[in-house]
Amino acid sequence: MRNDVILKAKDLSKTFSNESVQQHVLKNLSLEVYKGDFTVVMGNSGSGKSTLLYALSGMDRPTLGTITYYVDDDSKGTKKEEGIEISKFSNDKLAMFRRNHAGFVFQQNYLNDSMSALDNVMVSGLLRNKDRKALAEKAKKLLERVEINERDSKKFPAQLSGGQQQRVAVVRGVINSPEVLFADEPTGALNSQNTTNVLDILSELNSEGQSIVMVTHTLKAAERGSRIIYLADGVISDECDLGEYAGDYQDDENPDKEKARKRHEKLKDFLQAMGW
Ligand SMILES: Nc1ncnc2c1ncn2[C@@H]1O[C@H](COP(=O)(O)OP(=O)(O)O)[C@@H](O)[C@H]1O
Ligand SMILES: [Mg+2]
Repeated sequence: MRNDVILKAKDLSKTFSNESVQQHVLKNLSLEVYKGDFTVVMGNSGSGKSTLLYALSGMDRPTLGTITYYVDDDSKGTKKEEGIEISKFSNDKLAMFRRNHAGFVFQQNYLNDSMSALDNVMVSGLLRNKDRKALAEKAKKLLERVEINERDSKKFPAQLSGGQQQRVAVVRGVINSPEVLFADEPTGALNSQNTTNVLDILSELNSEGQSIVMVTHTLKAAERGSRIIYLADGVISDECDLGEYAGDYQDDENPDKEKARKRHEKLKDFLQAMGW
C-alpha cells in the first residue's frame, strides 16, 4: 500500500554555475517518496542521481523547488501531517534536521580512522541519543546483526576488511532510526560477496519497514528495490514498480525462485526500454 508519502519534492531544479557556463543538472523534477519503499534511482553517469539524492536528503539545497518531509518532529513539536519544508533551511537547521530524520551510506564508508568501529557508530548515535548505555546496547545489537562480532567492533576501520567497514557504515546510517536511509552507490567499491552481504542487510532493514532511497548503476543492486526511478539528463524518464515482488530477489541461495525471475525480467525490460 502506497498511501503514506514520507517525502515530497516539487519542481526541483539544480543549476551549477562557473565563470562561463551554467549546467542545469536537475530540471523541474517532482517526486514523491513513499514510506516503506525501497526506492532506487538509476540513470547514466552524469544524469544527476547524486545531485538528486543530496537535494532530497538535505545534504545540499536545490536552486529552485521545495522538499517537504512528512515526519513527526520532536524538536518543533510538529506532527507529520503538517509537513516540514527544508529547502530554505539554514545550514544549522538543515544539519539538525538530517541528524534527526535521515541516515546516509556512501560508496566510500567515511569512517573515522582514529576510532573503533563501535565508537564510529556511537558518535553518530550520541548526536541524538543521550542515553549512552541504551545506545551502546543498540549499537552492539546492530553490529552483531551485520556480523561484526564484539572483538571486531573494537578494531579500527583499517583493521577491518572493506566489506566489514561498509557494514559498520550501514549500522552508523541507521543508528538513529532515521525515517529515510539514503545510500549513494553503497556497494560501488565492494566485491561481489560483500555486495551481496550489504544488499542483504539493506533488504532486511527494508522488510522491517525502513524506507530507503538508493542510487545505483548495477542491476544486482537495483533488483532489491520496490520502485525504480530512471533519471535521464536531470528529469525522470519513467519508473518501474516492483512492489508486488517484495522479498523475492534473486540471490545465490535461491537462484531459481519463480517470483524472483519475474522481478528480474520486469526490471530488465524496463531498463532496456530506458536505453540503459
Ligand atoms: N558541485 C558541483 N559543481 C559543479 N558541477 C557539479 C557538481 N556536482 C555535480 N556536478 C555536475 O552535475 C552533473 C551530474 O552529476 P551527478 O549528480 O554527480 O551525476 P550522477 O550521480 O548521475 O553520475 C555532472 O555533469 C557533474 O559534473
Ligand atoms: Mg553519482
